[in-house]
Amino acid sequence: MNRKILVLDTTLRDGEQVPGAKLNIYEKLKIAHQLKKLNVDIIEAGFSASSKGDFDAVQKIAKEIIDGPMITALARAVKSDIDSVYESIKCAQRPLIHIVLGTSDVHVDKKFNKSKDAILQMGVDAVKYAKLLLPDVQYSTEDASRSEFEYLWKTIEQVVKAGATIINIPDTVGYAVPEEFGELIKKVNYRLKNLNDKVILSVHCHNDMGLASANTLIAVKNGADKVECTLNGIGERAGNAALEEVAVGIHLRSDYYKAHTNIVLKEIKKTSQLVSNLMGLDVQVNKAVTGDNAFAHSSGIHQDGLLKSRDAYEFVRPEEVGVENMELVLTARSGRHAFKDTITKIVTGDIADDDLEKLFAKFLELADLKKEVYTHDLYYLADTYYSQQGTIQEEVNKVGGKLYELVTCQVVSNDVFPSASVKIRCGEEIFEESASGDGPIDALYTAIKNIVNLDVELVEYKVSSISRGKEALGRANLQMKYNDKIYSAKAVETDIIKASAIAFINGVNNIIIEGIVNENSIEGKVN
Ligand code: KIV
Ligand code: ZN
Repeated sequence: MNRKILVLDTTLRDGEQVPGAKLNIYEKLKIAHQLKKLNVDIIEAGFSASSKGDFDAVQKIAKEIIDGPMITALARAVKSDIDSVYESIKCAQRPLIHIVLGTSDVHVDKKFNKSKDAILQMGVDAVKYAKLLLPDVQYSTEDASRSEFEYLWKTIEQVVKAGATIINIPDTVGYAVPEEFGELIKKVNYRLKNLNDKVILSVHCHNDMGLASANTLIAVKNGADKVECTLNGIGERAGNAALEEVAVGIHLRSDYYKAHTNIVLKEIKKTSQLVSNLMGLDVQVNKAVTGDNAFAHSSGIHQDGLLKSRDAYEFVRPEEVGVENMELVLTARSGRHAFKDTITKIVTGDIADDDLEKLFAKFLELADLKKEVYTHDLYYLADTYYSQQGTIQEEVNKVGGKLYELVTCQVVSNDVFPSASVKIRCGEEIFEESASGDGPIDALYTAIKNIVNLDVELVEYKVSSISRGKEALGRANLQMKYNDKIYSAKAVETDIIKASAIAFINGVNNIIIEGIVNENSIEGKVN
């Protein structure tokens, strides 16, 4: 029998817990739309009670992602958290409440300083309360892999009797090893199926020993019906099981796992790029499936083998997981037709004729500057174009807010007196400022700060090149601190100084947007 394995994606909850990876509401929505295309079964959209921003984002996703995945959000085992999840997801077509409470001694004794019975009762009460609100309730026995088995089972038994419809077994600190974790899942699965065979058994593995995907797959082999993953394996500390590894593993070895998922593998690369790009988290080049080198073959023996048969060194065809040929080059002479053909493969959704014309004009500008344009370049060209359009700007305009935009900048780099001048537009107004600094970027950022007059602190700044060659596009990624909160921003340009200036301005704009969103909640409030 080939079992269907459900996939819950927690990129927007566990993944977003990565320091500096915070997204704004529109970025989260963009990822949620792409997760729907990837065909995940459940989107964990956030932790509603953690902030008003999270609540609003979960609610927007619950409203807009229709005819697709179930929508869930995380709650601790307390009424106020459950209420908050319920309020944020009740408008979804298929909402699911997710409750978490620890079962290990360290959680029970040290974190809660309560008796095991008291914690168990807290979990049962939480499930009973959630069931008054919605029919579908997932219960996560946090730190399950370090829990005393009979207490873990007693908890599962009681919360299932209270109405939990999914039991999730987390390896919260990445402590489990495959053989042992497989045994644990087998034992739980055996008892659970005897108790109530309608209840879904799920796993959630962390990667502290680099075993998250292995543990997830062994759990599937031993009866887990559902897996929890993130794109590119991002998440707390060393991250979570990588969705692409688990989905491709189950697909490639369905003979062994006797299982399948409904993941649309062709959407994997696009989703990985979107997450990496919006969160500003580079994908390790040798990352399985989604890394830039995952399908690159450099040694002569491998290249020779590949020419004779692709199967010799390819475990799956790159096209199967949406990795297009990155060698594809367009030039200013390629023409509209070739451009349209390429860009439609890169952009998510249909491209309106008007947008296509504007994108073509931008492509010509870029082709003039860098001669050869790779698919990577087009991806960033489209990303920059779309991020400047539509929703965010409309929301800002609605409340009369104004965002900053770079007009021009110049930096002088020398050992004695690095300096910079910038010209920035904000609405109708143009501001100009010059400054010196410890280095050219410090000077540039001081000049911008003097204009925007916000007390922001740069905490991380990184430049890298996209695609290849000396005319590659440059990307600036940064994190800035404002009012004890970290904001991430990025920009891609042919000129790395310009990219650095725009990234800083984008960071400032993110602070302004968050201020506007918080003042003018998109909808509703946590009671
Ligand atoms: O790692 C963990 O235990 C979690 C739970 C909330 C599932 O993220
Ligand atoms: Zn986790």
